Amino acid sequence: MNIAVLGTGYVGLVTAAGLSEFGHTVVGADKVAAKIEAIRQGRVPIYEPGLDALLESNVRKGTLSFSPDLAASVRAADVIFVCVGTPQGDDGSADMSQIEEVSRLIAENLNGYKVVVEKSTVPVKTSVRIKRTISLYNKTGAEFDVASNPEFLREGAAVSDFLEPDRIIVGVESDRARDLLVRIYERFKDRVLVTNIATAELIKHASNSFLSMKISYINLMANLCEQTEADVEQVAKGMGFDPRIGPRFLRAGIGFGGSCFPKDIRALIKIGDDLGVDMSLLKETERINQGRIRVFLDKLKTALWILKDKRIGVLGLAFKPETDDVRAAPSIRIIQALLDEGAAVRLHDPKAAENMKEFFPEDGVRTVYCDSPYKAAEGANAVLVCTEWKEYADLDLGRLRGLMANPILVDGRNVFDPAAVAARGFEYFSIGRR
Ligand code: UGA
Repeated sequence: MNIAVLGTGYVGLVTAAGLSEFGHTVVGADKVAAKIEAIRQGRVPIYEPGLDALLESNVRKGTLSFSPDLAASVRAADVIFVCVGTPQGDDGSADMSQIEEVSRLIAENLNGYKVVVEKSTVPVKTSVRIKRTISLYNKTGAEFDVASNPEFLREGAAVSDFLEPDRIIVGVESDRARDLLVRIYERFKDRVLVTNIATAELIKHASNSFLSMKISYINLMANLCEQTEADVEQVAKGMGFDPRIGPRFLRAGIGFGGSCFPKDIRALIKIGDDLGVDMSLLKETERINQGRIRVFLDKLKTALWILKDKRIGVLGLAFKPETDDVRAAPSIRIIQALLDEGAAVRLHDPKAAENMKEFFPEDGVRTVYCDSPYKAAEGANAVLVCTEWKEYADLDLGRLRGLMANPILVDGRNVFDPAAVAARGFEYFSIGRR
């Protein structure tokens, strides 16, 4: 099958590489020519384990190529996956201008029947808009179908999520489109759920918001644990044994970030509000998440009282481990609050430091980037953990403590064992446990 993937961001790159790995001929297209040039030269713009190798092997096989010419890519394709961005607009809703733009471009290059597949996360009923836009600008009268095939990959595990998905959702309104999409995912026949388009669109938002809700729920329990003798790690473990609940996404911490959960929950709230559906449950989920930063900083203030002129080491900038992505990372709000209160920060992350410099440029005085966690701890009045990178769990705590001005460790991801840290002479604050 000839496939065009429009947009070479996270989802687009992984989709293009993955579909070519499944044996299809794929062109990844992006209007930013410099991006295409970089990818062609093997410079992948994101850090994602396994992605470089997957791209390289498929480009070498000749089944995957990249092009800045979206129009030609559309003309050559039977199926077009739309993977352009849907960033958050000012009112919380998704900004759909890039989807509209490529819909027009597809219409103008419709030289035969094609299926246009929404892969980006979009509000329910977006397909109706895409269909109307393509019809409006379709000069040739060629037939087309719109379909929805939401992507569930997680950053940091994107390649394996794509190559070994737990489900494939295919939203269609014609047998012809269904047959094409089912053929694309032939090897996962047993995992394909075919629905109508609105259902497929909603499954994506419903899944992300449900997982966000699970995280806010355990964070609420963490607040309760902190006022009692209970331990949130044990509470989560005990709950997780129940197969109806499951153990995953019950890690208490400083809240969910990233380019998906915070944006998607707001988008779903907006959709519900617009449709007159009471979205209080999700509004509360978001409110709890917003409150995590205050809860975390209060721990630091309990330890240090006043933050002005204090030196704080921050370990972990990415919104989660195994990624260099800092979009909507909790660390951003934490660092901002520290700087606002007059503290100086020493920042470390194994992968995300460069990206964070766009938010907090290095000034060598109040904002310093360090190439090791130990450097970040030098002379620090406290060290904060904002991302649970494995290398932090393996730190030599004795060495860390020796470098710090005050042995205060505030762990927003429960990376350390409280007893082990206390044994090293730290005053230790973590989430939902004493
Ligand atoms: C999420 C979903 O997990 C994917 O299925 C989905 O495809 C993707 O969004 C998307 O819509 O594109 P991702 O944003 O990569 O994936 O990251 P997650 O692993 O889901 O983590 C999201 C946030 O929740 C992170 O900040 C993480 O630290 C936080 N989290 C996660 C917790 O605080 N506790 C947990 O137990 C789990």
